[in-house]
Amino acid sequence: MTKQKKDFLNLLDYTGEEILELINEAIELEKNPIQNVLAGKTLAMIFEKSSTRTRVSFETGMYQLGGNALYLNSQDTQIGRGEPIEDTAKVLSGYVDGIMIRTFEHSKVEELAKHASIPVINGLTDFSHPCQALADLKTILDLKGKFKGLKTTYLGDGNNVAHSLMIGCAKVGMDFAIGCPKGYEPDSEVVEKAKAIGAETGATITVTNDPTIAVLNADIIYTDVWASMGQESEQKERELAFADFQVNSKLTAYAKEDYHFLHCLPAHREEEVTAEIIDGPHSAVFPQAHNRLHVQKALLKKLLA
Ligand code: CP
Ligand code: NVA
Repeated sequence: MTKQKKDFLNLLDYTGEEILELINEAIELEKNPIQNVLAGKTLAMIFEKSSTRTRVSFETGMYQLGGNALYLNSQDTQIGRGEPIEDTAKVLSGYVDGIMIRTFEHSKVEELAKHASIPVINGLTDFSHPCQALADLKTILDLKGKFKGLKTTYLGDGNNVAHSLMIGCAKVGMDFAIGCPKGYEPDSEVVEKAKAIGAETGATITVTNDPTIAVLNADIIYTDVWASMGQESEQKERELAFADFQVNSKLTAYAKEDYHFLHCLPAHREEEVTAEIIDGPHSAVFPQAHNRLHVQKALLKKLLA
């Protein structure tokens, strides 16, 4: 009765080697995008939050691999009317070959994975965004050709994107610094885990409330929105709290001259980043978004084929 399935809920569950294998597979898939390895397979995609990139890249990715994807908006399914997640997991397990879910509580994704007999992929929770971090790592490798000896700096909210990026950097042995205002630091357990992983891989993990210390000598500068989905009512107070953490030319002057700017998108110009930076020569945000497609296809091929 052993369950022969692997989920993708967090980068913590994957070794550095597995992450590199996924990235290498993504590089191959980018060169050879149409492969009929998932013929007859279906991915159910449950969305309880908005999405452009995640939805389109998963849907297109399944199609390019010979399979099919179903978009399930929670409002239009029984999930939105309170059907237990356990029942949803058991029902979908008999119809489809994998489930991608974007939701609020991370525990919901774990619950779904526990009761599903098919692979479950985390397409973003309040806690983490591992598909994004995979794409971020591939983008950095595309730009720099290596991870070791580089410093990635994240400025802003210690949120889902920050958590996954921090773990991803630690796993591949890249130094990571996060600069955030007091009260908006990343989860301390995630930081401790990243530090422990970094001690093995040679990556340092720095958490600071000083944005200039965070950015000093950075190879990569990364930011995300100040108010994530579900935090819209905190927008005004967050704008005040995060003002010194805007990625602008004053701050990027502390980075290496050949730094690259990344953002998971969607972005708010003149809030977390100036237009000058995100639309300027250092920005790689669109290749980064396109890498979502390639890494998720690698993941689908690994988990569903
Ligand atoms: N970066 C990201 O996950 O984008 P979407 O919210 O558009 O899916
Ligand atoms: N931190 C953002 C990421 C969006 C892709 C959010 O959760 O809304």
